[in-house]
Amino acid sequence: MNKVLSGMRPTGRLHLGHYFGALKNWVELQNKFNNQCYYMIADWHALTTEYDNVDRINENTLEMLADWISIGIDPKKSIIFKQSEVPLHSELFLILTMITPLNWLYRCPTYKEQIKEIKNKNLKNFGFLGYPILMSADILLYRANIVPVGKDQLAHLEFTREIVRRFNSFYGKMFDEPIGQITKYAKIPGIDGRKMSKSYNNSILLGEDIDVLNYKVKNMFTDPLKIRKTDKGHFSNCVVFAFLKAFDENCENLQKNCENGTISCMQCKKQLMEIISEFIKPLNKKRIYLLKNKSYLNEILKEGCQKAAIIATETIKDVRNAIKL
Ligand code: ADP
Ligand code: TRP
Repeated sequence: MNKVLSGMRPTGRLHLGHYFGALKNWVELQNKFNNQCYYMIADWHALTTEYDNVDRINENTLEMLADWISIGIDPKKSIIFKQSEVPLHSELFLILTMITPLNWLYRCPTYKEQIKEIKNKNLKNFGFLGYPILMSADILLYRANIVPVGKDQLAHLEFTREIVRRFNSFYGKMFDEPIGQITKYAKIPGIDGRKMSKSYNNSILLGEDIDVLNYKVKNMFTDPLKIRKTDKGHFSNCVVFAFLKAFDENCENLQKNCENGTISCMQCKKQLMEIISEFIKPLNKKRIYLLKNKSYLNEILKEGCQKAAIIATETIKDVRNAIKL
């Protein structure tokens, strides 16, 4: 039986990169594997980097949940829960730490990259080093075999498969090796052309105010060689085009007009503003409504945690037997 698990860290507002890179796929999977999709708010993972900035974690959690539901994650079809409310994640994490060689952690590309890039914070802590072990525990606790993630997370999936092989070789076959599933939108650009990310201040939020949205689209990077309308455009160098294509795969006409020099960048931007605002307006409405009903959101998490805990308890029982505790 197929089981899906994925998660996101409640470290800030969600943007279009999250939607195309992950959430769109989550919704499709939820419709394919009804009641077998586990979507987790990874608040312990948030602590691995935000250990000194905890004031907004709870607020971010509810905002993220409101965004998930607004874009179509359905609590009747999926199990939505918060990691720290199912404490058995920490037991499996602890057990997995016992069989994890330290060099597996030090050589992890995400660890090496972030230690190099993030200079304003001390990340040389045990929790951050152990990030992939906690992620493995999240996946294995539900025996998930499909893990929809962004491309940057694939190294953690590889790590999880290695842990599974090691666990099975020590204690007998317990887990299957999960596979990562990425979408074709592995790297949605931000308005400045770099990867859209909350750390770069270049994102379009799922709940963006429409005036702010228009301002951001106006300032998007386009092909630097197309200055006048009649200049022939190179759409592969254009952020506006990347978005138009993400929203509508069949935008060849626009592409032709850009290449032929019969449409200006401003005209393209106008079209994009309309497309994104049509997409965002209903989300905003739903999001505002949900955030006024925090007790409903908390109820969803409570129910999800109860369902998740049932499966987690079964797995931990099997794991304790396997390691003879
Ligand atoms: P951020 O870079 O904004 O902090 P996260 O690390 O919280 O984003 O990403 C959560 C998930 O969304 C990951 O699976 C990640 O790969 C995906 N994701 C984030 N930004 C993008 C993007 N610009 N394009 C595609 N996927 C993305
Ligand atoms: N590390 C993931 C991210 O930053 C979030 C996450 C935590 C996760 N646990 C997970 C994703 C388990 C998939 C499966 O996006």
